[in-house]
Amino acid sequence: MKQIARCIRRINGKRDGARRIGGEKRRAENAEQQQESKRGGFSHWIQADKNNRGPAAGATVPGLRAHECYDARVPAKKTRGRFITIEGLDGCGKSTQLGKLASVLRKDGINVLETREPGGTPTGERIRSVLLDSRTAGLSPRAEMALMFGARAQHVDEVILPALAEGTWVLCDRFTDSTEAYQGGGRKLGSAPVLALHKILCHNLQPDLTILMLSDVEASVARARRRNQQRVPSVALATGSQPADENRFEQESRAFFQRVAAAYKAIAKREPERVFAADARPAPDIVHREIVAAVRGRLMGGKGTSAQ
Ligand code: TYD
Repeated sequence: MKQIARCIRRINGKRDGARRIGGEKRRAENAEQQQESKRGGFSHWIQADKNNRGPAAGATVPGLRAHECYDARVPAKKTRGRFITIEGLDGCGKSTQLGKLASVLRKDGINVLETREPGGTPTGERIRSVLLDSRTAGLSPRAEMALMFGARAQHVDEVILPALAEGTWVLCDRFTDSTEAYQGGGRKLGSAPVLALHKILCHNLQPDLTILMLSDVEASVARARRRNQQRVPSVALATGSQPADENRFEQESRAFFQRVAAAYKAIAKREPERVFAADARPAPDIVHREIVAAVRGRLMGGKGTSAQ
């Protein structure tokens, strides 16, 4: 996509050609960056070092063995689309609500991208199958957190930031709050490493709104387990091989999910402006109306067609 800056990194010994840009070139790049800001395109690069940029789009560096990579920029809030995430326990009805909200927004004439985590890119979906398959045994909590962030970093750079920069609204089924709740809370790694990794790997990108679905722990997990059992691939059944599944988390204990739920509530308490806690227990249409009202109230100044 056009908003993705292609960067060319040096791979023959030196870590990153962009780090060694000389003074003059750096000044020229800063000037270019300021021009971009004036045009309203991008306000800043949320990176550890503002000057740590790759060459401009399409540039080639003679003599470098180079490969392309995504190095996306965080677009200015004023011009970008809105980023909405939806969170909650397994089986709380997130995906249904995400689809229903997307339909309403599309009726309002908004470009909407629906996506999910872990996943959302070809690489991320491969990481997802490792993470969720119950055959993945003995994964350490830290390795699990690292894989979640590997998939997310790719998702943010390849899909989310370019879409936001084009004015598309991105609706994402789970994001970093999931890592804080499941790995930070459920696996007891704590919030600090999650928030630090989010800064380092995901530009510290914050959703404009997070819908947290508050559900009954037992009922949600039982629902997720039933649903996943029905998803056994027919090929595996026919061949008698052990099927890939998405059951690994659903096998966790009640205490694990209680910790996840408590961590979610702590996030909502910490960031009430970003997080809208919706009661997920009533019928889906009632929950849907509550969510649409929150989106209209918080992101659209109360405008738009009614919830359908
Ligand atoms: P998902 O497909 O959303 O499951 P469900 O539809 O049952 O809610 O998410 C897959 C699982 O991955 C879910 O059990 C939560 C877990 N997960 C984490 O542990 N950490 C994360 O950062 C993410 C994104 C998901």
